Amino acid sequence: MEYQVFETIEQLSTNIVDKLSNIIRLKPDSVICVAGGETPLPVMKKMVAYQESGEIDFSKAQFISLDEWVGLGRETKGSCIQTLEDNLFKPLKLKKDQIHFFDGLSKNLSSEIEKMDRFVAKYGIDFILLGIGMNGHIGFNEPEVAINSDSLVVDLDNVTTAVMGKYFEKQLPLTQGISLGFRQILNAETIVVMATGKKKADIVKAIMETEPTVALPASIIKTAKKNAFFFVDEEATTNIN
Ligand code: GLP
Repeated sequence: MEYQVFETIEQLSTNIVDKLSNIIRLKPDSVICVAGGETPLPVMKKMVAYQESGEIDFSKAQFISLDEWVGLGRETKGSCIQTLEDNLFKPLKLKKDQIHFFDGLSKNLSSEIEKMDRFVAKYGIDFILLGIGMNGHIGFNEPEVAINSDSLVVDLDNVTTAVMGKYFEKQLPLTQGISLGFRQILNAETIVVMATGKKKADIVKAIMETEPTVALPASIIKTAKKNAFFFVDEEATTNIN
């Protein structure tokens, strides 16, 4: 895993979208996965700007979801699909058949898992952009999750339920998430994990100073055999000596 510190989020985002640009140029029908949450929003903005200026054409790309809160769909502000649709899919003018997302409202989560696993087994993942939870989770791969798993439903960790209020307009009784599993994430051709801002400084320090352990899921990315990058801004490195 290549670790790189950028002075600003702007520089960090540009570097990521330049990488993605090269990937799409070589393979226009790439499979792309972008995490929900707040961290990747500047990257999404830049992806849209690159398409508008003609530097990238996403019209043949496929987009898959990383994760979703079980019980939430597009109607709830703060769901992963709402974040991605409003900030990326709609501005990129993607067609419906380019988007393959977990339906958190489904009564049959096993079939959501099967659909995703079938898609990823067939097409793979060319590029995945990941954020990090305050407990080090990746997607909804919470601490102590099985790391040899494909897509899965996970019980939310206490840290996640304590901080999830930032996404929603009111308190929601959420207890589970559905997520790509580590086996799929680690097999992606290019993996970029990003962390920005002072509030991620403790977790960035822990990742940099810990051997890969399932107690800190983001540290597992260090075991990736393919291109893996850990991009942070200077604020997120405040606690590293
Ligand atoms: C959320 C999501 C992840 C996201 C992470 C970090 O709970 N499950 O997909 O990457 O936590 O979120 P944020 O970027 O808002 O800090």
